[in-house]
Amino acid sequence: MDNSSFQRLLTLLLLLFLIAPSWAQQSFRPKALVLKVKKDASTLQYVTQINQRTPLVPINLLLDLGGQFLWVDCDAGYTSSTYRPARCRSAQCSLAASTACGDCFSAPRPGCNNNTCGLTPDNTVTHTATSGELAQDALTLQSTNGLNPGRNVSVSRFLFTCAPTFLLQGLAKGVSGMAGLGRTKIALPSQLASAFSFPRKFAVCLSSSSNGVAFFGDGPYVLLPNVDASELLTFTPLFINPVSTASAFSQGDASAEYFIGVKSIRVDDKVVPVNTTLLSIDSNGVGGTKISSVDPYTVLEASLYKAVTEAFINAAAARNLTRVGSVAPFEVCFSTENMGSTRLGVAVPIVGLVLQNQDTVWWIFGANSMVSVSDEVLCLGFVNGGENPRTSIVIGGYQLEDNLLQFDLASSRLGFSSLLSGSRTTCANFNFTSST
Ligand SMILES: *[C@@H]1O[C@H](CO)[C@@H](O)[C@H](O)[C@H]1NC(C)=O
Ligand SMILES: *[C@@H]1O[C@H](CO)[C@@H](O)[C@H](O)[C@H]1NC(C)=O
Ligand SMILES: *[C@@H]1O[C@H](CO)[C@@H](O)[C@H](O)[C@H]1NC(C)=O
Ligand SMILES: *[C@@H]1O[C@H](CO)[C@@H](O)[C@H](O)[C@H]1NC(C)=O
Ligand SMILES: *[C@@H]1O[C@H](CO)[C@@H](O)[C@H](O)[C@H]1NC(C)=O
Repeated sequence: MDNSSFQRLLTLLLLLFLIAPSWAQQSFRPKALVLKVKKDASTLQYVTQINQRTPLVPINLLLDLGGQFLWVDCDAGYTSSTYRPARCRSAQCSLAASTACGDCFSAPRPGCNNNTCGLTPDNTVTHTATSGELAQDALTLQSTNGLNPGRNVSVSRFLFTCAPTFLLQGLAKGVSGMAGLGRTKIALPSQLASAFSFPRKFAVCLSSSSNGVAFFGDGPYVLLPNVDASELLTFTPLFINPVSTASAFSQGDASAEYFIGVKSIRVDDKVVPVNTTLLSIDSNGVGGTKISSVDPYTVLEASLYKAVTEAFINAAAARNLTRVGSVAPFEVCFSTENMGSTRLGVAVPIVGLVLQNQDTVWWIFGANSMVSVSDEVLCLGFVNGGENPRTSIVIGGYQLEDNLLQFDLASSRLGFSSLLSGSRTTCANFNFTSST
C-alpha cells in the first residue's frame, strides 16, 4: 500500500465515522409513536401538539378521532422551505382521493398554488367545511417503546390540507387545525403506519385533568405503575357507515368515523326498552353508534335519551339517591349526599352498552357517567340529541376518559380497556420523561 492509497483509506474511514451517526438516525425505525393529549378547560376539546415544517414549528391541533385528515391554517404565517403543493393528477391526489383540480388567483404561497388538487377541510366542531389545497410537508413526532418517549422521527412528505384562518372559529385558543385520525388513507394512522411500516393500529387514552396520551402503532402501552393497557382490551367489530358523515362530501363517499354495534342498552341489570331500529345504520347512513372525541358528552337520540334517563332515575331511586333540579346542558342531576364512592367513581346506576353478545358490554361507571357541576350536585353526563339525528348514539369525550381505546384498522376492530382505575392506573399515567 503506497502512501496515497493509505491516506485515501484513512479519509474513507474518517468519512464513515462522520457519516455513521446520521445513517443510524435515518435507519432507526420506530415501533410506535406517542403524542400528549391535553383537554382544553374552556372548550372541553382534546388538543395535541405536532412539529411540522422546515424549520420545525410546534402546532396545536384538535384531536378528531373520526377526522378525515390533518388540516392546518396556512393563511396565518405559514413558512416552510419544504412545503410542496400536490400537483393535479399526481399520486398524492389519488391517494387522497381528490379529484378537484384548481388554480389560485393571487400571489403563490402555501395554500395558494396553480395546478393543485384540493380537499374539503372540515371543522367538525362547528360543522363548517371549505376547500383547501392538498400539500406535503415535513412532520416530526416522538417515537416510543411503549414505556417512555424515545428519539424524534420525521416523515419528510406528510400529506395534509391547507385551510383558511376562518375555519378555526370555534376551536380552542392557540389551535391551528385538526388532526384527523379517521379511516382514510391520508389520516394520521394510515400515513404514519405506512411511513414507518408498523401495524395500522392506534390508541387513545383521554384524560380530564393532565396529559392524556395517543399512540400510533401496536402496544405495549404502559401506564404507571407498569400497567400494560394493551393487555386489558376487550374487542368489538368496527363498522363502516356507507354514507359520509362529513359536512361536505361527494356521493358514494363512506364515513371516515368509527362506528360500533350497540345491540341493547342496560342500566344496572335491566335492559332498557328502546326501538332497536335506531341502533343499526340504515342504507342512508342514518342511525348506529359512533365514537367521537369532538362531542364533549354522549349524545342520544330523543327516544333513547328518554328511555335511558327514565331507567337511570328509577335505578337511582332504588339506591336512595336524591334527585335535584337540572343544570344545563344536563337534565338528570342528583345530590351528592348519601352517594357512596368506589374505585370506579361515585356509586350510581351503571349504564351498559351491550355489543356483539351479552358478555361484551361497554360499562359506563360513575367516573364516566357523572359530571360534577357543584360541590353538592352531580349530573348524568348525557345530552338529548333530539329527533332524527344522523347518528343515534354518539359516545362523547367525557365517557371515553380514562379508558384506553385501540383502533385496529387492518382487522377493523376496537379494543376497549374499561375504566382504568379498575386496574389502578389512569390515562394521565404515561411516563413522558424521555429515556434518551
Ligand atoms: C395562476 O395562473 C394565473 C394565470 O396564468 C396567474 O394569473 C396567477 O397569478 C397564477 N397563480 C399562482 C398562485 O401562481
Ligand atoms: C422531540 O420532540 C419533543 C416534542 O415535540 C420536543 O419536546 C423535544 O425537544 C424534541 N427532542 C429533540 C431532541 O429534538
Ligand atoms: C323505530 O325507529 C325507526 C327509525 O327512526 C322508525 O322508522 C320506526 O317507526 C320506529 N318504530 C317505532 C315502533 O316507533
Ligand atoms: C333506601 O331507604 C329505605 C328507607 O329508608 C331503606 O329501607 C332501604 O334499605 C334503602 N336502600 C338502600 C339501597 O340503601
Ligand atoms: C419515568 O421514566 C424515566 C426514564 O426512563 C425514569 O427515570 C423514571 O424513573 C420514570 N418515572 C417513574 C415514576 O417510574
